[in-house]
Amino acid sequence: KEDIYILAVESSCDETAASVVRNGREVLSNVIYSQIDLHTLYGGVVPEIASRKHIEKINQVIEKALSDAGITLQQVTAVAVTYGPGLVGALLVGVSAAKAIAFAAGKPLVGVHHIEGHISANYIENKDLVPPFICLVVSGGHSHLVVVKDYGEYEIIGRTRDDAAGEAFDKVARAIGLGYPGGPKIDRVSREGNPDAVVFPRAKVDGSTYDFSFSGLKSAVLNYLNSCEMKGIEICQADVAASFQKAVIDVLVGHSMEAVSQYHLKKFAIAGGVASNSALRAAFEEACRKNGLEFYHPSPIYCTDNAAMIGVAGYYEYIKGTRHGWDLNAVPNLKL
Ligand code: KG4
Ligand code: ZN
Repeated sequence: KEDIYILAVESSCDETAASVVRNGREVLSNVIYSQIDLHTLYGGVVPEIASRKHIEKINQVIEKALSDAGITLQQVTAVAVTYGPGLVGALLVGVSAAKAIAFAAGKPLVGVHHIEGHISANYIENKDLVPPFICLVVSGGHSHLVVVKDYGEYEIIGRTRDDAAGEAFDKVARAIGLGYPGGPKIDRVSREGNPDAVVFPRAKVDGSTYDFSFSGLKSAVLNYLNSCEMKGIEICQADVAASFQKAVIDVLVGHSMEAVSQYHLKKFAIAGGVASNSALRAAFEEACRKNGLEFYHPSPIYCTDNAAMIGVAGYYEYIKGTRHGWDLNAVPNLKL
């Protein structure tokens, strides 16, 4: 059988990324140009700056992905690209580049959903993982509990009503003076803190077992900080960070374990930027062991935005027959 090479492009937020994936699960190259330093100055991603930087970097990143993989564009089987959800201007850069390359080289074009990419990151290092399973996708823009019924077949059973998990990490980090990007910083300082120092709420959402809500928790942290300031009490950054982190993790683990048991599945996976959180991984490891579940998670480099995950998802879409036309557009609120 002939090898299938997917050239994948990802530019939905602040990472300009390209990758070559062979036969679905073998990553031959994974090039990521991160713009984080550029946005740190503003305390978050500035969409216009992100788009401009993508334009500057996209060709170099794609060329490097091909040369790192040691293949030519002519050897590529198909071009896959994230076309949503994400920042529209940022997405458009990747979509336009992928369309131009695929058109010029006479290759099929496969549009990929960003969340499908995050979920598919689990296939890279877990060669034995096959659907069905349940995946918790927690990133800067999303908190979804997804039943992965088959490749490309998903049912979202839980979503956030307000802030995404990563967004809560970023906002709380800013409030306690840790700066941007908040997730990795909270992760680090929490190791020195007491997670039981401050009791923050674990929000239940009316009418849904699996939906999340993190804005109440964020407000509780802000109220706690305000009241300390008013009383002249100095806060312990590490304790607040660890207590907040524990509150997020408790809810994520609770909902996830309930879902796995209700859907009678024995495999559970995590994905997205927040899935690289060390305390979260440890908590899921423990919960899955207790419940007799197989636990899957990507390495940190495949948790945060990358194009290898888009290449994997693109492969499964490609072999299913998904093809997009030259009119493929960026869809900022694309549904899974
Ligand atoms: O998946 P991702 O790179 O981009 C989106 O698709 O949103 O996720 C980025 C998010 C940010 O909110 C960042 O703070 C969070 O993931 N994050 C973490 C950690 N590393 C990244 N959150 C908690 N702990 C971490 N170690
Ligand atoms: Zn993402």
